[in-house]
Amino acid sequence: MYYKKRKIKKTPIIVLFIIILIIILLIIGINLYNHYNSIEYKLSEKGYKEDEIKDILTFDKKYINYAVENDYEDDFIPLVKEKYFIWKNFKEYIKYIDKEYGDKKVDYGLVVSLVNVGANNEPYTHTKKTDMDKGYAILVNKYTSLPDKYAPDDIVEMSNWYSYPDNKIRKEVYDAYKSMFNSAKEEGLTLIVNSSYRTYEEQKEIYDDYELNRGKEYADTYAARPDFSEHQTGLSVDIFSPGSNMTTFENTEEFKWLSENSYKYGFILRYPKGKENITGYNYEAWHYRYLGKELAKKVYDSGLTYDEYYAYYLDK
Ligand code: DAL
Ligand code: ZN
Repeated sequence: MYYKKRKIKKTPIIVLFIIILIIILLIIGINLYNHYNSIEYKLSEKGYKEDEIKDILTFDKKYINYAVENDYEDDFIPLVKEKYFIWKNFKEYIKYIDKEYGDKKVDYGLVVSLVNVGANNEPYTHTKKTDMDKGYAILVNKYTSLPDKYAPDDIVEMSNWYSYPDNKIRKEVYDAYKSMFNSAKEEGLTLIVNSSYRTYEEQKEIYDDYELNRGKEYADTYAARPDFSEHQTGLSVDIFSPGSNMTTFENTEEFKWLSENSYKYGFILRYPKGKENITGYNYEAWHYRYLGKELAKKVYDSGLTYDEYYAYYLDK
């Protein structure tokens, strides 16, 4: 009887022990399963270090998935972290880095800017037509052209009060320019338009003349080829103060005023100093592009060239 009693007591303990063991094994199993299936583990298997994994986990899901599914890429994290990183350009960024940098330290911001605007390619070798539906926001540069022999249909003559003789411009741009001119005048400053709307033929003549006298490379840094010039859009004006020229204008009070105020009237400085590799043109203190007040303010505030701004915010 005593023996039997002991036996009855022992069985539930063993059962309980087995249940606990199964639970423990299950917990360990689940944890192991979770570990080997975790993004952290998969990234570490790809070769990413702890701090890199921390960075990747802060990214958008599609970038995390890319890192998990593809081989280790040392440019991946710094590129994704760039403010103006565009996902569809990722492969192009990598190609450009491999071609241009080798073992040198990479300027990721520059890579992103250049590829976004298309300047990783030789000018005029990879061109597309601009999206005319963008209206006053159309992009025209060495990679994006106007429709063949484009000519706007609302061109008006400019009065000699505002410009040197024979200048024409689109109506809305003229009104905006007059308003800007009058505000400058109130501050004792005089603006004068030196060049504005140019037909396809006029732009061709300017470019051909530069090319003939100074060679193709020189021509391409100072003038656009026909169908690739903002002047042909009727949205750009070259502004001087009376008596100043391409060399002296940037040292005038008028230039200083325009730099601080043109955006309020819808104009932006189109080819800024230090951005020659992005715009593809020499610095032009005199060339202002009309975008309309709202967009001009946004571009001005961004500190970007219009090429960069368009690529990131408008090229959808
Ligand atoms: N000078 C500017 C780039 C043009 O020719 O349109
Ligand atoms: Zn110009």
